[in-house]
Amino acid sequence: MIEIHFKKSDSVSSVTVNEGQTLLDAAKKLNISEITGDCKGNCACGTCHVYIDDNWINRIEPIWSASLETYLLEKSKHYNEKFSRLACQIEIKNEYNGLIVNLIKETS
Ligand code: FES
Repeated sequence: MIEIHFKKSDSVSSVTVNEGQTLLDAAKKLNISEITGDCKGNCACGTCHVYIDDNWINRIEPIWSASLETYLLEKSKHYNEKFSRLACQIEIKNEYNGLIVNLIKETS
């Protein structure tokens, strides 16, 4: 099992998932209100926007710059070129055990 930590400014929620599940699946297990995932992981809504922790951003599979994920993220007013990712587009691998994700409230 792979442990994932979702951080807010004042709290941390942790969950375990299996390899091959997505970061959105992990968030759904915890009913995280900041990640609504309106399009159910189809890379169409942008409501699963998160910031990957500074210590982890270079350890996960990088974003593909010409992807739909990049397009959706760039439309967000919270877009951060370095840390922004869509949770539904991150497939969990065993080496992601301990991954820290910072939550943002995506309203647009
Ligand atoms: S759930 Fe809609 S883009 Fe990720």
